[in-house]
Formats: sequence, structure tokens, C-alpha cells
Amino acid sequence: MRKVAITVVAVLAVEAAVAAAWIYSGFYPIAATQQHLPITYAVIETAYNRSIARYAASVGEPPDLAQPGLLPEGLRHYQDHCAQCHGAPGVAPAPFSLGMTPVPPPIVGIARHRTPAQIFWVIKHGVKMSGMLGWELKLEDAEIWAIVALVTRMPTMTPIAYQEMVRSFGVPPPEAACPTVAAAARSADAVPAAGECL
Ligand code: HEC
Repeated sequence: MRKVAITVVAVLAVEAAVAAAWIYSGFYPIAATQQHLPITYAVIETAYNRSIARYAASVGEPPDLAQPGLLPEGLRHYQDHCAQCHGAPGVAPAPFSLGMTPVPPPIVGIARHRTPAQIFWVIKHGVKMSGMLGWELKLEDAEIWAIVALVTRMPTMTPIAYQEMVRSFGVPPPEAACPTVAAAARSADAVPAAGECL
């Protein structure tokens, strides 16, 4: 029995030493232009999904997301802060976002598999070691819920309906990021597509 215990401890010690040597060697490719090893990806992905599910459980019941006024506010924030990375129905993300690892997932897919509370939690707190920022210091909870109200409607929104909403709410794209497109968007028939801006 004692021999078995010593063998187990020795094997674990060797494994830990090999793992430490691998990490310190610098061979792990940290480059964003290369994908993770499948095992690294599986570990990160599992931790990511489990963590969102656990922490979002404390968010509580969402407010009434059908309230009038939520959509224009959500759309304004979404165009300003989110579309460059996540796109929108009929709007491609900005080219720079494709150089990120992980690549920001398309918003319509997110809205299909996450609950409103989970979407709220990720927007508010962000995700470590990815490009997903935590908006806690920039946006009030009510503003984040307005974004959630918009995002949860996206799976059933056609590109034309999205463009129509952008036009009818008069939401401009980020001015500082692309003054030319912002100016064009104020003219009658231009559609402010955030993906064209950066
Ligand atoms: C600079 C790029 C960037 C911006 C800006 C950004 N995100 Fe993200 N977002 C990401 C990335 C990258 C991920 C994936 C994180 C991961 O997989 O580790 C992500 C993940 C998410 C997720 C969770 C996706 C899932 O797995 O279901 C949600 C929800 C989300 N973002 C919403 C938003 C909203 C809403 C905004 C605007 C307030 C926003 N993001 C702004 C890059 C961005």
C-alpha cells in the first residue's frame, strides 16, 4: 500500500515538473493568429460556460424587456459599443475583430443559446483574457438591460428590419471612430453599419 502511494506521488510530481517545464519553456504559442491546442480550448470553454451559468444565477429576474423605450436606448449603446465586434443582423463585424482569439461570436448565435440573465452578466462583468470588456464602470444596469432587450430580439430580426430600426430611431454609428460614415448616416438613405467604421 505504501509503495502504491509513493508511486502515485512520484508520478504526479513528474507530471507537475513536465507541465512546469513546458510552461516555462515558452513553447506554448500565445499568438492570437494560432488557435489553442484542442485540450486547452476544451478546458477554457468548459470553465467559461460553467462560470457564466454559475454567476448569472445570482442576477435575478430580468425587468420587463418589452417596455417601450428600451429598444432605442439598447440600439444606441449596441451600435456604439458592441457591433464592431459582434456584428448585427446584416451588419458584418469590423475587420479588426477577426484578428482576435477568440474571435467575437456573432450576436445572433449568442442570443439563441444564452438566457437574458447570462447575457446581462457577461456584458456587465466581461470575460478575462479575451477581448470581451466588462461594462460595469461605463454602463448603468438599466442601460445594460436595454442592450439585453435588443439582443434577445435579434434571432428573429431580419437585416432589413434592423436597418429600418437604425434609421427610424436615428441612431448614428460611433462618430469619433468613423466621421465620414457618421456624416453619411445622417443623409436620407445611408444605413449606419458599424462594421464599416473601424
Ligand atoms: C473588442 C471586441 C468586443 C466588444 C467591443 C464587445 N465584445 Fe462581447 N465578446 C467579445 C469576445 C472576444 C467574446 C468571447 C469571449 C470568450 O469566448 O472568451 C465576447 C463574448 C460576449 C458574450 C458571451 C458570448 C457567449 O459565449 O455566449 C456576450 C453576451 C457579449 N460578448 C455581448 C457584448 C455586448 C452586448 C457588447 C457591447 C456592450 C460587447 N459584447 C462588446 C468581444 C467583444
